[in-house]
Parts: sequence; structure tokens; C-alpha cells
Amino acid sequence: MQKKILVLGNSNVDLVFKIPRFHDPGETILAESLATVFGGKGANQAITVKRLGGDVLFMTKVGNDHYGTTYHQNLIKNGFDQKLIIQDKKLPTGTAVIELTPKGENRIIAFLGANGALSDKDLKRRKRYWRGIGIFVTQLEIPFPTVESGLKMAKDQGALTLLNPSPPIPLAPHLLSLVDFIVPNEVEAQLLTGIKWKGDQDIRKMAEIFLNLGVKNVVITLGSKGLFFKNRSEEIRMNAFKVKVIDTTAAGDAFLGGLAYGLSENKPIREVLKFANGAGALATTKLGAQPSLPQREELDIFLRGVKRVKKKIS
Ligand code: RIB
Repeated sequence: MQKKILVLGNSNVDLVFKIPRFHDPGETILAESLATVFGGKGANQAITVKRLGGDVLFMTKVGNDHYGTTYHQNLIKNGFDQKLIIQDKKLPTGTAVIELTPKGENRIIAFLGANGALSDKDLKRRKRYWRGIGIFVTQLEIPFPTVESGLKMAKDQGALTLLNPSPPIPLAPHLLSLVDFIVPNEVEAQLLTGIKWKGDQDIRKMAEIFLNLGVKNVVITLGSKGLFFKNRSEEIRMNAFKVKVIDTTAAGDAFLGGLAYGLSENKPIREVLKFANGAGALATTKLGAQPSLPQREELDIFLRGVKRVKKKIS
């Protein structure tokens, strides 16, 4: 039976500036285009699960401004329960400035706005939504005490917990012991463990540090180099799918959504990782966060196509 998923996290409006290259301090450059799209790690992850066919709830906070109203409509349109979309009375909606180069690389500055006011109290008032959940997903673009409460409430339900430690901040062992899956990208994993990535040996060391701090499973996403999974009994190194990269924004979120969905279906871990890997790859082939998140049919076709190519080669 499919498990119910609850995603707790941020909602941002993303201002995507296409630029010729990352520029230097003190330098002004012109953007080639500007697009305003819906984003925010929490929302991106929840919408991915929804598009893949999962049973998912999303709790977030938007601001008391025009963006807040349109974001609220966006989440309703995507099929989310409006009782979990809280509107802050004073703060503006979370906003991110995204610089995007022709190579598809990005740099993101996120302003928390209303996301920064998603409180422990907000969660406690909506405690009933935690009842019966099997999977809980969260990130760090909301206040830390809120993340901690969400994880504890999920553990009280016996749910499997997924933490995307982004943006990376030092995490205490008591928090990490509440985490079943930690999913950093290579930059976050290096910052959190203090280990420099030169080869697979270093990735393994990073994973071991997380495991020794109490996390049960570690998935480090490595961009075009694929991913590394490790727990106490198994280790998996998977390559990335080869696609034409347009924009890597939200690829990690699509991966997280795919991972949560796969786990909700109790599939074997290798299969779950392949599914998530495909979701992440597809998200890099289009511009913007939410416009790039894959639909289930699209992902199934993509994965079937990859299998066929492999058969032809072998
Ligand atoms: O992971 C990508 C997301 O990070 C963007 O949509 C941006 O809003 C930030 O939250």
C-alpha cells in the first residue's frame, strides 16, 4: 500500500535572470532575460510528489502580498489542501533571485520572508495532519526549531523522515538521530562534513560521518556525476542520466520528490534511487523550478527509453 507523505517547507517566487556568466564583485552586467516562476524547495518537492502520483500534503507559509495570493492559487491549482497553506499577516512572500548561466549552472539568493515565520505553533495547531503519515520530508529554508518539531512529530507517528539540508547549517547529533534519509548535494555535503571531494573515497567518508552522527541512510547527489547512497549494510554508486542541461534549478528537489514517492511505494532502494535520478535529470532539461518538475508519464517514458538504449548497446 502507498504511504501518505507530508512535506513541510518553503514557498518562493523565483526571479530567474539569464546571464552570460557569473560576474565579479563591483561589476554590473546585463541579463539576457528575466522570468518569474513559482519555486521554493518545499513546494518544488511537494509538487514533484504530486505529479508523480503520490498521496501528499504540503504545509507552508506565504506572505500578505500579491505574490502570496498568486502562490496560494498556484498551490490550490496543484491540488493541495488550503488549510495547510498559511498566510502571514505582515511579511512578504519568500523570494529567490536566481542567476543562470548558459551552461545551466545557477547561484541562488533566497529571502525567507513569510517562510521565516512558519512556527512551531503553526505546526502544533495542525498536528492532526501528521496522523497516519508514512513519510515526512523537510529542508532548511524555514526556521530550525520548526524543522526539529516537524521531525519529532513525524517520528512519533513512526514515519520515515527525509531531510534535505539546504541551505547547509551545522546540524546537532540529536537532530540527525531523527533523520532516516539525509539528502545533501555535493556542495552541502562538503560544507557539512568539512571533507573536500576529490574522488569517490571522499564521498564515502562524508557518508560515514553522517552515519556516525546517527542518520540511518545517506544519499549524496553529485550533479552530472550521479549519486552515492550508503547505509550500514549497503552502498550504491549510480551515474547520472545523460540529458541536455538547460537549467539545474530544482533538480535536487525533483530528486527528493522522486525519492519520497519511491519510498512511499516500498520499492527496493536501487529502484527508488533510479526513479529519483530520472526525475532529477528531467528537471534539468527545462527552465525554472516548478515548470521543470516532471510529470509521471514523462518520467516513465524517459526511463523506458533509457532501458531500450542500454539493451541496444549491450
Ligand atoms: O532548489 C531550488 C529552489 O531553491 C528555488 O526554487 C528557490 O526558490 C530556492 O528555494
